Amino acid sequence: MENPNRDAPIGVFDSGMGGISVLKELYEIMPQEDYIYFGDSKNAPYGTRPLEEIRSLTIANVQFLLSQGAKGIVVACNTATAAAVRILREMYPKLPLVGIEPAIKPAALQPGHPVILVMATPMTIQGDKYKTLMMNYELKADIIGLPCPGLMEFVETGNTEGADLKVFLEKLLAPYLREIDSIVLGCTHYPFVRRLIQEIAGERVRIFDGGNGTAREMRRRLDAAGLLSARKEYGTVTFENSLATEEEIELSRTLFQKNLS
Ligand code: DGL
Repeated sequence: MENPNRDAPIGVFDSGMGGISVLKELYEIMPQEDYIYFGDSKNAPYGTRPLEEIRSLTIANVQFLLSQGAKGIVVACNTATAAAVRILREMYPKLPLVGIEPAIKPAALQPGHPVILVMATPMTIQGDKYKTLMMNYELKADIIGLPCPGLMEFVETGNTEGADLKVFLEKLLAPYLREIDSIVLGCTHYPFVRRLIQEIAGERVRIFDGGNGTAREMRRRLDAAGLLSARKEYGTVTFENSLATEEEIELSRTLFQKNLS
């Protein structure tokens, strides 16, 4: 079931389109790899579902990617990572498997006891993983968790710059803007609206996300397992989506091409 072939693809999944922001980081540092990206848009959002449902959806996604021959898995969803990464590690102890968590550490280690706003799904903010992260850094920073139900849906429909999205974000962020020094994007959908968040928060506020750290961690794991491809040419990226419509695949490609900086 686990694929020891170093030219096999890396499997990446999310509840929908968000994990494409992590896929971009993976492709940036490992362009010679092949990728299969699975977006479970049919069951999105995950972040407002009960824990048990998120767990079984997450396990099914991993099984699907392994059935497609993946040599390793990136759980490109903070919500699925918080809900199920421990179980997945127990199920697949030998598989290179990496999850993503809100980038609180680099934000909290900025000088001067910063005030940090963590934007994430309700499930991520309620989860034990988040509470542990908070506790680890509470002496270094003031950390405010902001559940953002409704935000991922904009990205799912390809809306990353609309006037309605701007109004939504302004309303969401307004109560915090005077006090915060940084924002952590604790959901993989949010890097697609990063520019708008930066515009609303102002240049003074620094934005962090965990995509790059997750990609680097996956490269380390594959390297340690002797599973990095030695190919010289660019790899391929294949998009799969549980809605299985041409629109979803097209939107996936568009988001993959989008410049996020
Ligand atoms: N992209 C997912 C994350 O990183 C969440 C979106 C959802 O609620 O499904 O948490």
